[in-house]
Amino acid sequence: MAARLPLLALAMLSLLAALWGGLGRLGFTFPPPAAGPIAFHGPLMVSAFLGTLIGLERAVGIGRRWAFAGPLASALGAVVLLAAPGPAGPALFVVGGLVLLEVMLLAVRLQPSFAAATIAVGSACWPVGGALYAAGRPVASVVAWWIAFLVLTIAGERLELTRVLAPTRRDHTLFAIAAAVLLAGAVLSVADADTGVRVLGAGCVALAVWLGAKDIARKNVRRKELLRFTAVCLLAGYVWLAASGLLALVFGATSAGPQYDAWLHALFVGFVLSMVFGHAPIIFPAVLMRDVPFRTRFYAHLALLHATLLVRVASDLAGFTPGVRWGGLGNVVAVLLFVVNTVSAVVAGRGRRRAALLGL
Ligand code: HEM
Repeated sequence: MAARLPLLALAMLSLLAALWGGLGRLGFTFPPPAAGPIAFHGPLMVSAFLGTLIGLERAVGIGRRWAFAGPLASALGAVVLLAAPGPAGPALFVVGGLVLLEVMLLAVRLQPSFAAATIAVGSACWPVGGALYAAGRPVASVVAWWIAFLVLTIAGERLELTRVLAPTRRDHTLFAIAAAVLLAGAVLSVADADTGVRVLGAGCVALAVWLGAKDIARKNVRRKELLRFTAVCLLAGYVWLAASGLLALVFGATSAGPQYDAWLHALFVGFVLSMVFGHAPIIFPAVLMRDVPFRTRFYAHLALLHATLLVRVASDLAGFTPGVRWGGLGNVVAVLLFVVNTVSAVVAGRGRRRAALLGL
């Protein structure tokens, strides 16, 4: 437990630094722009925030002390990257990715399953992209690997949970084909960025269709409270995963500008952050051993995220720069509201439990 809180705090600080950098990239001058967070916005989001969070969750799950070296390395990577830009920070992200891969290989050995194997393949994509980045490749030419890391990790976790619906052999085959297309896109992107990104996009669309049709979220959306909230997060995320895939298919490789912004953030904000919102009340109790009781106000940060992302992406496509800026700012406010709503739910939950223990 002693290591978990500082690691989670470092992941959250990376998130804040990345959001700060995102605002700077959109041209906001408050908070005053800072070179490091602007330059490293993407790696901070993917490796320092999400990589650390996923590594921490897996380390807790597998219950081995060495596994915490992964989130420690990726969290320190952010500190090093911001303090002394150069290859050392990215190299630490690679170490974080390799430890996560080792954890997932152990998980596959302990409990072999198709879902665990998918997550392990996803985990391998993080250090591959990280090594290319550490070797000096620009973010735009390695981002397909980071997308493969996050999408395969999340899709594998969802596949695990669809077990209760007893998916058929045909379902598994279709899932494997979609995942293989996505992975092929990442591999291809190294030699031929345009073809790679389009193939990756096709894989994203295929996986979104599979998940939208087979995920247990379709049933849970008719339930109540947390089950329903998580299901809404998932289903909305799948719509953005498909949208991002379509954008990649149509636009191919881009390295800056509105098409790049729309493609990447439909995926990273619309799909990935929606998943984070939906799973936070489940992951945080496992990591911190503190309840995150469901609150109806969780819908506020979720609705704000999707509404402002719609403004951002539509404005990107229409070439309406003020809409991109205000939509992006709305994304940042939605993430901050998520943090406030989650922390306040934890604090209120602790207060109520203490009162119950004291018999008040
Ligand atoms: C939530 C608010 C966010 C804002 C305001 C924001 C803002 C931006 C902006 C303005 C760009 C430059 C796009 C261009 O070249 O036209 C960018 C790029 C990028 N963003 Fe975000 N972003 C956000 C969230 C995220 C998230 C959640 C992720 C990943 C999980 C992410 C990953 C990236 C990546 C990888 C790039 C490419 C960076 C590069 O090529 O150097 N962003 N972001």
